[in-house]
Amino acid sequence: MDNQNLKVLLPREDIAATVRKLAADITRDYHDKNPILIGILKGAFVFMADLVRCLNFPLELEFVRLASYSGTQSTGQLKMLQTLPCPVEGRHVLVIEDIIDTGLTTAFIMGYVKTKSPASLKLCALLDKPARRCAPVDIDYLGFTVPDRFVVGYGLDYDQKYRNLPDVCVLEAKP
Ligand code: IMP
Repeated sequence: MDNQNLKVLLPREDIAATVRKLAADITRDYHDKNPILIGILKGAFVFMADLVRCLNFPLELEFVRLASYSGTQSTGQLKMLQTLPCPVEGRHVLVIEDIIDTGLTTAFIMGYVKTKSPASLKLCALLDKPARRCAPVDIDYLGFTVPDRFVVGYGLDYDQKYRNLPDVCVLEAKP
């Protein structure tokens, strides 16, 4: 991408410290609950991998994958590409998101899990971009609030690229 610049917004050290803090809060609340952590693919995979390695108690992992209907962007017209393979009825569920922008994806997934009758349902997000919110979302565990910029790295992509960057970076057009 010759016409784009990457500027580090959240360095890897800051992310690691925040992940440890989130893990401490989650440990306090879930250490005796054998929770199911549900990661939203693909963006949450790096965050989830780092987070669960800081959680030293019994838990289970699942993943779901969502996609916007083709040709639309964050319209709420979402479909599940990969649904939950296990029953969550009566279980404590923690949904793990990379970034919450409009909130439509999160509102959709939280509504979907709720129909499966979990004992409890909470949300953990690494990043919150509240400027463009159009669906209300309660974030129980939050890493960082970010400005209304397009960010990549640490699992987040632009056109499926940059997920492997270790820092969260702002993607900008070159002047
Ligand atoms: P929402 O439905 O608008 O809240 O968007 C949620 C999804 O959009 C996230 O899980 C990301 O996959 C994607 N997204 C939103 N903002 C960004 C960004 O700044 N960088 C990369 N992906 C983003």
